[in-house]
Amino acid sequence: MLYRLARAGFFQLDAEKAHDLAIENFKRFTGTPLDLLYRQQLPERPVECMGLTFRNPVGLAAGLDKNGECIEAFDAMGFGFVEVGTVTPRAQPGNDKPRLFRLVDAEGIINRMGFNNQGVDHLVENVKKANFSCVLGINIGKNKDTPIEKGAEDYLVCMEKVYPYAGYIAVNISSPNTPDLRSLQYGSALNELLSELKQKQLALAEEFQKYVPLALKIAPDLSDDEIAQICDSLLKHNIDGVIATNTTLDRSIVEGMKHANEVGGLSGRPIQSRSTEVVRLLSQLLKDRIPVIGVGGVDSYVAAKEKMMAGAQLVQVYSGFIYHGPKLVRDIVKNL
Ligand SMILES: Cc1cc2nc3c(=O)[nH]c(=O)nc-3n(C[C@H](O)[C@H](O)[C@H](O)COP(=O)(O)O)c2cc1C
Repeated sequence: MLYRLARAGFFQLDAEKAHDLAIENFKRFTGTPLDLLYRQQLPERPVECMGLTFRNPVGLAAGLDKNGECIEAFDAMGFGFVEVGTVTPRAQPGNDKPRLFRLVDAEGIINRMGFNNQGVDHLVENVKKANFSCVLGINIGKNKDTPIEKGAEDYLVCMEKVYPYAGYIAVNISSPNTPDLRSLQYGSALNELLSELKQKQLALAEEFQKYVPLALKIAPDLSDDEIAQICDSLLKHNIDGVIATNTTLDRSIVEGMKHANEVGGLSGRPIQSRSTEVVRLLSQLLKDRIPVIGVGGVDSYVAAKEKMMAGAQLVQVYSGFIYHGPKLVRDIVKNL
């Protein structure tokens, strides 16, 4: 009820202004009695995944809290884990505005944010200050002006800086809004990247006496063969998890709707079934050797359960959270 009222107000605003206002409020309310507006006591539904214990399998997907500014607020809502970022080595402004659009009737979102963020050092400072008990994922990427051939260096810089503070590290090679980024999903480019990340992970594990799992985040716009090749690479390099999926370039489901022709990645209910298909194929190919984290159109308990029945051990929400608020987390967790 409360969220429905808040949503009516937020949806009067431009989508990015609404997002910024929400982040500001979460920051201001943290540590004050006003956090009761969203604080939820949820039943424990512990899950072991990637060697970590999650208090429940419902996470916040990357991109909502790009700078790690309101981890405590999402922790208070009862998420089992929160993935902050995507963060890049250096701060960057992202694409020109407007760059975020709601497709309300489809409960979808199109974004071409372009990794707007304040840089990895700023994110680390925010994480250091935060007090939380959920698992923290930190999602890393490359700066727009780093040539793609040097992309691996950006991931390594970020990895080194976030390693001591992350529960797990998500490697984002699937955003459609950074030119050429998705080319890292294929063939030798992927194998070289994963090999370098694995070496760095093992060196950092030794240095910090702490093993931080690495999860690769992939796009829904891949053929079955390409997904099979990604699975081979994940197994070859002993990657700890795979997150499926990021947003899609496909517009067939929303054709003709307002904003459907905006450039960027589509998320929310329109990608629900495609991302579940990707989760299913990954699970069949990986056969429990590497856990799958399912994301894309999770907007209810049923949608979360479908991802899990397709093989996901954990799920994440972004667009569903925008349309349904913190109650979505409660609805999923209490029914599990
Ligand atoms: C506005 C917006 C920004 C996003 N930014 C990121 C990002 O920075 N890094 C990332 O890995 N995914 C990003 N995503 C993708 C989401 O994490 C998620 O994979 C995708 O939206 C599918 O989930 P959903 O249908 O629940 O939204 C973004 C999504 C949206 C809507």
